[in-house]
Amino acid sequence: MTTAPLLDVSGLRVAFPGRGWRAEPVEVLHGVDLTVGSGEAHGLVGESGSGKTTIGRAVLGLVKTTAGTISFGGRDITRASGRARRALSRDIQVVFQDPYTSLNPSLTIGDILAEPLVVHGSAPADARRRVRELLDRVGLPADAAERLPREFSGGQRQRVAIARALAPEPRLIVCDEPVSALDLSTQARVLDLLLDLQRRTGVAYLFISHDLSVVRHMCHRVSVIHRGDIVETGPAAAVTSAPRHPYTRRLMLASPVADPVVQAGRREERRRLAEAERAAPPA
Ligand SMILES: Nc1ncnc2c1ncn2[C@@H]1O[C@H](COP(=O)(O)OP(=O)(O)O)[C@@H](O)[C@H]1O
Ligand SMILES: [Mg+2]
Repeated sequence: MTTAPLLDVSGLRVAFPGRGWRAEPVEVLHGVDLTVGSGEAHGLVGESGSGKTTIGRAVLGLVKTTAGTISFGGRDITRASGRARRALSRDIQVVFQDPYTSLNPSLTIGDILAEPLVVHGSAPADARRRVRELLDRVGLPADAAERLPREFSGGQRQRVAIARALAPEPRLIVCDEPVSALDLSTQARVLDLLLDLQRRTGVAYLFISHDLSVVRHMCHRVSVIHRGDIVETGPAAAVTSAPRHPYTRRLMLASPVADPVVQAGRREERRRLAEAERAAPPA
């Protein structure tokens, strides 16, 4: 590739204050390298607590980094704050996991969607037109604009959150487990919506998930994170069908399958792999 990636995370370290009196800081990211190309869906997969959300929050400027750089569109944004950060919020948006806490319950859907538009300078009439367009694009009825979040199901609220992220026409959306809180059939429909939106708009995704099968369905490339280190990166098809790292193999066995017999066999193999890993930790 000759052009610079859209997002370039390099040597990223993040530490949180330790708990208790005079506790040492605890490092949770140990030098993460990750790139997302323009228009790419890049999966970031790993089990709970591995550091996925922290990477997303670092990209959004919501956690302090201790080392490394984050570049966006060729510009170093590692320490962007104030006005520079607000300008970036046009280009980098986010969809969080929990659609029940991510929408302000006292605003109508129309106000929720208009807010980012008005912040970035749209006239009210333009914003209203764009809100109708956005609702249509995410498959919600036009009258949703007058209603409150509590009148909607989890899947519908997640559609609102996606519409809000799309509103300023960003170049990157950090999707942090965007379907994990939804039931399975709703998950599939929301994932299809995200795929469709990407095809239409060319927006890039940093798509965070603990589920390898979701990432396989959604992403061009995948990075696998294990306890704050990226252990494997490659084309989604390769990483998810022929993983090279034992940890990725364990994740693959952990993604749910419908057949309880297959599931039990996988559980057994996962246990054996975990044991082997404990006996000889991968480098
Ligand atoms: N604000 C915080 N303060 C202290 N520790 C944190 C904070 N946020 C996350 N952590 C810790 O950092 C590690 C990575 O968390 P996180 O990035 O949320 O993982 P994931 O999203 O993969 O589940 C975990 O051990 C978590 O407890
Ligand atoms: Mg998380």
